[in-house]
Amino acid sequence: MQNVLHLSTDSRGRFERCRDACASPLAGLPVRDRDLFELRLERWFQHLDDGLGPVYGRRADYDAFLERLVRTLAAQYAARPEALKRLDVERDLTPDWFQRERMVGYVFYVERFAGTLRGVLDHLDYLAELGVTYVHLMYVLRPREGENDGGYAIADYRDVDPRLGTIDDLMAVCDALRERGIASCVDLVLNHCADTHAWARAARAGDAHHLGYFYAYPDRGEPDAFERTLPEVFPDFAPGNFSWVPEMQRWVWTTFHAFQWDLNWTNPEVFLELVGIMGGLANRGVDVFRMDAVAFMWKRLGTDCQNQPEVHDLLQALRACSKIATPAVAHKAEAIVSPGDLVHYFGTGRRYGKVANIAYHNSLMVQTWSALASRDARLMTHALRAYPPAPPSIAWGCYVRCHDDIGWAITDEDAAAIGWSGAGHRGFLSDFYSGQFPGSFARGAVFQYNPATGDRRISGSCASLAGLEAALEGASPGALEGGDEQAVALAVERILWAHALACGFGGIPLLYMGDELGLRNDHRYLHDPDHRADNRWLHRPPMDWTAADRRHLPGTVEARVFHGLQAILRARGRTPHLHAQTPSEVLDTGHPRVFVQLRRHPLGPMAAVYNVSEEPQALEAGWLVDLGLRQPYDQLEQRFVGLGDGRLALRPYDRLWLV
Ligand code: GLC
Repeated sequence: MQNVLHLSTDSRGRFERCRDACASPLAGLPVRDRDLFELRLERWFQHLDDGLGPVYGRRADYDAFLERLVRTLAAQYAARPEALKRLDVERDLTPDWFQRERMVGYVFYVERFAGTLRGVLDHLDYLAELGVTYVHLMYVLRPREGENDGGYAIADYRDVDPRLGTIDDLMAVCDALRERGIASCVDLVLNHCADTHAWARAARAGDAHHLGYFYAYPDRGEPDAFERTLPEVFPDFAPGNFSWVPEMQRWVWTTFHAFQWDLNWTNPEVFLELVGIMGGLANRGVDVFRMDAVAFMWKRLGTDCQNQPEVHDLLQALRACSKIATPAVAHKAEAIVSPGDLVHYFGTGRRYGKVANIAYHNSLMVQTWSALASRDARLMTHALRAYPPAPPSIAWGCYVRCHDDIGWAITDEDAAAIGWSGAGHRGFLSDFYSGQFPGSFARGAVFQYNPATGDRRISGSCASLAGLEAALEGASPGALEGGDEQAVALAVERILWAHALACGFGGIPLLYMGDELGLRNDHRYLHDPDHRADNRWLHRPPMDWTAADRRHLPGTVEARVFHGLQAILRARGRTPHLHAQTPSEVLDTGHPRVFVQLRRHPLGPMAAVYNVSEEPQALEAGWLVDLGLRQPYDQLEQRFVGLGDGRLALRPYDRLWLV
């Protein structure tokens, strides 16, 4: 066969050796299947080699490692169920499947949403009713017993938490979701495993091979040298980045909790292990891997050990592995880092577009809350205008809240650009959302106060932060009366405003379970010994199915939020401008209370206009006319909007998707 794909001379040699090495795992397959694997291997081999080369290329055994890796991929492909192979082809043909305007994500703890994995099957109608096409099942793999950081300390990546079910249940859930047109996402915790994982146990027992999976130091020499430039993720309940393990007589690198041991990715065995795990889960039907805490995967002395270039190389190589063996799968990077660092997770320069498919837009989330508290859109406009452009092949994960806290990722430079002090504004936001600022509508709590930096991150559910909890103080649950109706109405508007922004931004909106019903903070975590030190559980309530039933009772808070959100999601589905590939830009209209985003689609422009205050506003509309939007139609309310006196009249917390 004549091949037209470009491979460098070195890579071509390696490709040919790898191709020959996988003859045996592919032996039993029909010729057409073998051809497809070889074509994909050739197509993505350069990405793989370019990702792995900078990391492991100088090792004498690099070629042998590559051959082992590709044999593993061939075996994964050979074991892939027919239905998933068909999906592979479908997605090869539709590479924008996760970028489409119909994509709507819903995020939940399986245990909190449905008790067990099988329990999820009982709620598929609910997901469909809301309009969900993607679910992030948190967490499913077997975590350590006792404290486990909300499931992010994995004791066995190849098994499901027995309390949730079995690996076959996971497969059944993925299948059932797929039948409904819903993609499934599972966490792949790449930076660390639990101290009770078999690798850690073996290392503790003195096994040299497994000791090499971790960073372990006999004395404080290196840890102290690293600590000089390392920040702390959990300064409050897990200070420092190293933990003394007496059985080993060593300091082990533990960025997060002492029970989460950082994996040593300089060791190619770690890469092979995780590729094996990833392929196994993909073959169970997982569509998207949420690659947890990726920023921390590579350590370099004298740096903060985050966002190192090798992380992007490793992620590029992992993505190439999926493209070769299980191409239906997409990768979502969880890197909660600054804008300048974040864009590299999509790939820049030689890695352009080759790294993750999806990444969380942390700044959008932070700016949403910042704008709501200050009733000022200028900082948001400035920060998002300055955002580095992302490749057109990706999708942002756009969210209002997640299971984690909110850190005020607002730079001093951005604040200064509109005449504010960065520290002052971050302090204001912490005061505001912890409910300490006079007149604040929010009821949140400070998470991880760091006296060294002054940082105070915030926990709290979307509804509680948006004012619903304060507005309903004194009202009984589900009551149509009681509470402060005006305050309730404003809180509902804020919840919908924030979600309209996330749904209209052009990535995948990721709704956090319960926010569609306005679920408030849940203080019961204080009674759970494994949770009480971590107030992120305040906003991880169990699903309240009684409250969910109230969505059918007109006038209840649940009905207002649920149907409001459902309407936004429906509008999203009929707005092709929201395909993630559509170029977009933030406009500076000069109006301090209005945020405007423009999307240029072949069907015509779309201007999304958001009033961030509880006061009506008037926006000079000449720019809309210049864009050709003389008679704009609002996709959200499905009505024409008048520009009577050359101005656009905006109601309190108005949001318009004008086409
Ligand atoms: C991610 C998770 C968070 C967890 C951390 C460590 O940030 O979202 O919940 O604490 O990783 O795994």
